[in-house]
Amino acid sequence: MESSAARIGVIGAGYVGLGTGICLAAMGHSVIVRDIDERRLAALADGELPIYEPGLVDLLADSRHRLQFTADLAEVLAGADLVFIAVDTPPTYSGDADLSRVTRFFAELAQLDTRDDHLLIMKSTVPVGTGDRLRAELDRQGLAHVGYVSNPEFLREGSAIHDFMNPDRVVIGGFRVEDGDRVQAIYAPLGSPIIRTTVPTAEMIKYASNAFLATKISFINEIANVCEEVGADVVTVADGMGHDQRIGRAFLNAGIGFGGSCFPKDVSALKQLAGNSGYHFQLLTSVIEVNELQKRRVIGKLKKHLGSLAGRTITLLGASFKPETDDIRDAASLVLASRLLAEGAHVRLYDPVALDAVRGLLSGVELLEDALAAIADADAVVLVTEWRQIVGLDWPAAIATMAPSRVVVDGRNVLDPQSIRAAGATFEAIGRA
Ligand code: UGA
Repeated sequence: MESSAARIGVIGAGYVGLGTGICLAAMGHSVIVRDIDERRLAALADGELPIYEPGLVDLLADSRHRLQFTADLAEVLAGADLVFIAVDTPPTYSGDADLSRVTRFFAELAQLDTRDDHLLIMKSTVPVGTGDRLRAELDRQGLAHVGYVSNPEFLREGSAIHDFMNPDRVVIGGFRVEDGDRVQAIYAPLGSPIIRTTVPTAEMIKYASNAFLATKISFINEIANVCEEVGADVVTVADGMGHDQRIGRAFLNAGIGFGGSCFPKDVSALKQLAGNSGYHFQLLTSVIEVNELQKRRVIGKLKKHLGSLAGRTITLLGASFKPETDDIRDAASLVLASRLLAEGAHVRLYDPVALDAVRGLLSGVELLEDALAAIADADAVVLVTEWRQIVGLDWPAAIATMAPSRVVVDGRNVLDPQSIRAAGATFEAIGRA
């Protein structure tokens, strides 16, 4: 077992790497974070975060004396015993996970000095079977002494610190019991259930968890669409279902579909993984399709009230894939903005944090830093992301400044339908009576 303060390395200074590294430093460990992006490193050295994650910049400041940032992998190996791998594994054109960053790390590792007590801990989401392959690769390269553990991460962007410090469970898949013990010792102070298993099972727990949550969302979105046909209210339906402990209320919020860097990629990677192994995962095919259609249904709602969207001014409120993050990967805002431009609409976009991320991505979209200015004179407003800065607007006052058609589409079911209608707007939500 590790002593209470371990020497830890983290590979990758993205959302997962920084969340993990800074939280581990806050727990008292000494942490070296490695990234290949020198600008990112320079910012971190100045105490600035290259990502937006609530509370993390303060935690970085508090734990600064236990954190180092470097581009040099040799420095990490010299100063750390446990090395968490947190590089991204984006989807390829085929929907498989792109493991090139993982592969590059292992190639580099083979060129450097490693010790018997070096333990690699995979946090990146990698297809089931990757750990077995990497273990074989390490052995082939004469690195049998370097341990390998799969330890999938379950942090949500926007609440990464809370999720790290209060995990529902910690999953540890190892080849050798003693390697798993060392990782378990790191998490022990958090007091959460620990699941010890094999490497492939740990890898599968991660995919199955994300795919199940995504399935829950697509399920409730389809229920919402049926609610619209039959005059039922999906929010109350979800509440009614959620009281059943076997179902649970979490992740039953109907809306304009899931986005982000995880669900779309992981659902597609699991579907591909199954397909590559000869199994057609029908359910996941539908989960993905429902999600794509869900984003586009907003266009139909707008047309229902406005007719042709050509020349209309449509304001999208929220660019990030969910609140409290600047991450716009697979965000509904991007799909909606592109569809609306294709319909000939004039598109405005407001976000309290993520506008910089979309700058240059969406040519033809007017980016506005002030929500009320973005709403003024618009024919329609679509609430895309439930930021508190958006939900908490003075909606009656904002609606009063809109063009006469005044359509409000609540893509997250967070506004009060009655007060929006009382303010004179035509109101649409997702699956609400
Ligand atoms: C997700 C998982 O929740 C984490 O456990 C996991 O670690 C992470 O992916 C990952 O694999 O790295 P995240 O993508 O940060 O976390 O965000 P979520 O809060 O799960 O939301 C994902 C998407 O689902 C968002 O677009 C959100 O708006 C949507 N959603 C969520 C709904 O449409 N309805 C809901 O009821 C819940």
